[in-house]
Amino acid sequence: MRIENLSAVEHLGSVRIHDVRRLLELDSGSSRSAVVGAGQAQIIEHEAIEAIEKKMAIVIPVKDEELKVFEGVLSGIPHNCQIIVVSNSQRSGIDYFKSELDILERFCQSTGRRAIIVHQRDPFLARAVECSGYSELLDDDGYIRSGKSEGMLVGLLLCAMLEKEYVGFIDADNFVPGAVWEYVKHYAIGFVLAQSPLSMVRILWHYKPKMIGELYFKKWGRVSEVTNRYMNHFISTKGRFETGVVKTSNAGEHAMSLNLAMRLPYATGYAVETQELISVLEQFGGAVPVADNLVTQNGVDIIQTETINPHLHEERNDNEHLFQGMLVPSLAVIYHSQLCEDSTRKLILNQLVESECIAQDQEVPHVHLLPPPQKADIKLFAEALETQFGDIALPGGWLLGEKPSRYKQPGNAQKVLFSDIDGTILHPQSYTYAPALQGIRNLQERRIPLVLCSAKTLAEQEALRRELDIKDPFIVESGGAIYIPKDYFRFPFSFNKTQDEYQVIELGAPFAEIKQRLQLVAQSCSVPFSTFGNMDVDELAQRTGLTLQQARLARERCYSETLIVDEQINGRLMKSLQDAMMKEGLHSVFGGRFFEVGLGSDKGKAVKILCELFKLNFNSISTFAIGNGLNDVSMLQVCDHPMLVQEIDKRWTKVKVKDLVRIKDVGPQGFSRAVEEEIIKFEAVAGINT
Ligand code: GDD
Ligand code: MG
Repeated sequence: MRIENLSAVEHLGSVRIHDVRRLLELDSGSSRSAVVGAGQAQIIEHEAIEAIEKKMAIVIPVKDEELKVFEGVLSGIPHNCQIIVVSNSQRSGIDYFKSELDILERFCQSTGRRAIIVHQRDPFLARAVECSGYSELLDDDGYIRSGKSEGMLVGLLLCAMLEKEYVGFIDADNFVPGAVWEYVKHYAIGFVLAQSPLSMVRILWHYKPKMIGELYFKKWGRVSEVTNRYMNHFISTKGRFETGVVKTSNAGEHAMSLNLAMRLPYATGYAVETQELISVLEQFGGAVPVADNLVTQNGVDIIQTETINPHLHEERNDNEHLFQGMLVPSLAVIYHSQLCEDSTRKLILNQLVESECIAQDQEVPHVHLLPPPQKADIKLFAEALETQFGDIALPGGWLLGEKPSRYKQPGNAQKVLFSDIDGTILHPQSYTYAPALQGIRNLQERRIPLVLCSAKTLAEQEALRRELDIKDPFIVESGGAIYIPKDYFRFPFSFNKTQDEYQVIELGAPFAEIKQRLQLVAQSCSVPFSTFGNMDVDELAQRTGLTLQQARLARERCYSETLIVDEQINGRLMKSLQDAMMKEGLHSVFGGRFFEVGLGSDKGKAVKILCELFKLNFNSISTFAIGNGLNDVSMLQVCDHPMLVQEIDKRWTKVKVKDLVRIKDVGPQGFSRAVEEEIIKFEAVAGINT
């Protein structure tokens, strides 16, 4: 590529601001000589550009952009650059993020590229940022703040994690892939030209076409024209010579060496690019002594280049966005810099009042600043991401290419285990889960989902999931409903409601309806029974052996009721009670000590629905189920590998299930044995042999 050779340079302390150099030729032929044309132009060799591109990641912040445009942007990024997409697109209703993910995945597959995509509001990403110690990036709710600049910073941390030397930013709303390609080439050229390892490349568009009757090739954006004026005034006050050197105050298209990028404080929102210049000048512009050796020895280069392709992007022509969103914050960061002279401040204030951005007596608003990302411990960030994103749930994002999904390979079916709780994970008598821990950990290490499927309520299962650190979907109240953690499956599916952090698929009728029908049963049948709902917590605890807290949770039922009948009751009476319930449309299963009564709920059906979802997620799955009693039969029947653990008397409940494997141990011991002997026998631990 051929670029204008020399440009004027402004020196401010350690900072060198290079005036704009025009690109002259996109393709300068095969000449190998570095400099031609009597100092007019400089050829930047293809090899030099490629060498930089290999060390560069391109961060694409995206929020609800047209997908075709996003796709075009991807295709414009030179092949050797690592792509990092940081999305803040809508997830509810139409899941734009999911579509972006699909597009990127297909793009990577067909081009053999590596890419990372994350969702900016993903809670796991936020945890990783928190672990790194860079919690300024989080909002009060603990999520990463919304905003383009915050998205850029996430991208920056990912770049550092990948040990890239350069980061370039490209907006996702660019209509012209050829322009995107050219921007990245400019970044590389800039880094070839820069003398310092601390450098920044900022792009000036040749033209920015607008529809003003017909397509009109406008030279300056409204905001950049104004911001440049005050930025140059700000710089001019530092010496005795007026300057107009800065022409890229708002350059959304820009790149930095990581050495520089990690050292700068950043403004939130759209003031980010202006603040980058201010940050460089404040820190290294000579106003304060610089202690940083890398800076004192090499200085900082700000390179500006002008493109050949016009800049055509999705135009947001609302004045609110242009003025309040962009102009005010851009000028505010100049205004509030501690280096800003009164004369510049006065001009900025006038400008803002005149353009009716602020009222006469109003203060110039402050822009929130984030500290330099070098404060983040990238190792901790990477470790946290590794554990979270390695998870099969891939919450909110996918590390594409970095970690090829072993689950997706043909012939490598993903194992999924469905397990009962009472009498299986919990001991039938002591309720302890201790002997099951080994099995649970074995599954977790291998990232095999463990779906709890039991008569227990949401509240009960949540408590257990927390204690055992289980993050997979679960089936409550004997198939009354399926609870799926939000973002667990990375594709749209239908569910009945969202509740807290779950998407809920409801199968059973509501509790009130069941209760009503049980009253009719009590009237028509002479067998006495009590229900969990009719007992107070003390009585329930006493009769079941549950602790008070456990009893409290057991009463929070939504889709089922539990009956307790007298232990002495004979088989005939039991049958008549069951018949009476059946007459009312209720189905009941005897669960060892109690009757589980439901209307429409079905463990087997719930398992089948989840199997379908897992299949969509992994392409191919192999399902396992562990239970101990009659109420597990429908779950066992629909899984590929049904297993039964022993009851307290070391016997197996008599059930009719095809291919059933009987495990030689009671409850939780049996669970761990089943995991070891039947599920993971030939499995490697994730990360070692995947
Ligand atoms: N990750 C993320 N998070 N991306 C976002 C967010 C967010 O909260 N908000 C916007 N984006 C993405 C957009 O999808 C787009 O790809 C890019 O950030 C720029 O946002 P736009 O809203 O399209 O900005 P603009 O076109 O008005 O302004 C652009 O040019 C200016 C210079 O003229 C931006 O690059 C500005 O930062 C720049 O100053
Ligand atoms: Mg835009």
